[in-house]
Amino acid sequence: MDFDLVVKNGIIVTASEVLQPGLEIGIKDGKIICIGIALPTSSSTHIIDAEGAYITPGGVDSHVHLAQKNSPTGDGWETGSRSAIAGGTTTIIAFASQPKDATSLYPVLEDYDKKAKDQSYADYGYHFILTNPTKAILQDELPVMAAQHGITSVKLYMTYEAMRVDDRQVLDILFACRSLGMTTMIHAESHDMINLIIEGLERRKNVDPFFHAVARPRIAEDEASYRAISLAELADAPMLIVHMSSEVAVNHVREAQTRLLPIHAETCPHYLFLLSAEIKGKTHDHFSGAKHVCSPPLRHHPKDLEGLWQSIANGTFSTFSSDHAPSKYDHPGGKRLGLVDGIPRFTKIPNGLPGVETRVPLLFGQTPACQPPEKAKLTLPRFVQLTATNAAKLYGLDGRKGSIAPGYDADLIIWHPNDTGAVTISQDLMHHDIDYTPFEGVHVGNWPRYTVLRGQVVWDKSKGVVGDMKYGQYLKRGKGQVLTGRVGNLPRGMNEDERRYWL
Ligand code: URP
Ligand code: ZN
Ligand code: ZN
Ligand code: ZN
Repeated sequence: MDFDLVVKNGIIVTASEVLQPGLEIGIKDGKIICIGIALPTSSSTHIIDAEGAYITPGGVDSHVHLAQKNSPTGDGWETGSRSAIAGGTTTIIAFASQPKDATSLYPVLEDYDKKAKDQSYADYGYHFILTNPTKAILQDELPVMAAQHGITSVKLYMTYEAMRVDDRQVLDILFACRSLGMTTMIHAESHDMINLIIEGLERRKNVDPFFHAVARPRIAEDEASYRAISLAELADAPMLIVHMSSEVAVNHVREAQTRLLPIHAETCPHYLFLLSAEIKGKTHDHFSGAKHVCSPPLRHHPKDLEGLWQSIANGTFSTFSSDHAPSKYDHPGGKRLGLVDGIPRFTKIPNGLPGVETRVPLLFGQTPACQPPEKAKLTLPRFVQLTATNAAKLYGLDGRKGSIAPGYDADLIIWHPNDTGAVTISQDLMHHDIDYTPFEGVHVGNWPRYTVLRGQVVWDKSKGVVGDMKYGQYLKRGKGQVLTGRVGNLPRGMNEDERRYWL
């Protein structure tokens, strides 16, 4: 076999183990052909010497917002995907968002396809955001979207007036997705609780950015998460609760998993590394806190972070995604578009933070690769599960993405050897089209030295982005796998007899 590329002298990490040092990866036509010792090379074989560094699968970021209409100053495909590969992410699953007045998903898909085609440095796919789940969409369109276009997941919102669906609609969607083997993602926050608090805050003129975090307390996430799990239990359908920030809400998930329900949880870097003090702003201009407005909001106490880190380590979280959903801070139309006649109003600040580039290095920095063993917060295989393997399996990319094994796409992160890759995160280093990073000044113990996508080096830390904007391919995804719960198809929410009466 004449390999195109051989990566040697590294330590390969997969979702289950850290392999012995020195194994070589043989790559041809963008695929991993074999892993072995002393692989043959010829004059045409490109060789990368990892110099003893760790090699992990290219990141799969399954929660990225690009070129959405509701985020006019956000990242587009070119800049968002460039930022992804610079931080080790080779696959992004972004959203194709249905406007409330759209009665078909076809024009939605066409619209997003136009924005992404030939504009992506990374491989990519979409989840649909469903805001108006008509019968025709659920019965006629979703089956076609899954079978022909490989879109096998949807995201729903329980809050935001322009996006939200009610509980009945959630149930209808869960039933439709269940029969198609699609995964339902859900943004779980109590709309009514939040609105009630916002009314009170506005009455008292408490409208600075910080009050965003007051308006969306943990209980709003706890209640909605429990409700979402109950709806999924009744429908007996798998569900993933996105961007979880509250330990109590995560405990609802853990309890459901203990009962073998197919309930998954996702968290994001900002909930593990940042606290709500950031929203008070670090400078005299206290509007700078607008840089940290996201939903659910950053929480208040270090103890909140601790509970989430435990769920990172103990397996409750299936995925660790960026929720890259940024808006520019300084903007001709008004700072973060949150100033009304020059006065801050938190309800006007677009929600969401940049993070597609920093996600993988931030978590790698907490593994034994960068920390003394007693300080590490997760193992290296767990890091791989959370940043790549689980998202690939859950969203129907297993066998192609998310692992280092024969037959898989050759998507790799080759880290710096030893302690030579440490970085202090700063906006100057970022490749997004956003004017700040919320992780400014955070130290990470390593940074991808090379990012390899389908056998091509697309990021070289010493040179920068070396990939091609047209190289990213659209990924038709298969049915997702349920990673938690019971194998088989037993009804759980009700007993068998009760279900026979109505299903
Ligand atoms: O604050 C956030 N997360 N905004 C982005 C949209 C979403 O809810 O994921
Ligand atoms: Zn959300
Ligand atoms: Zn003020
Ligand atoms: Zn999001």
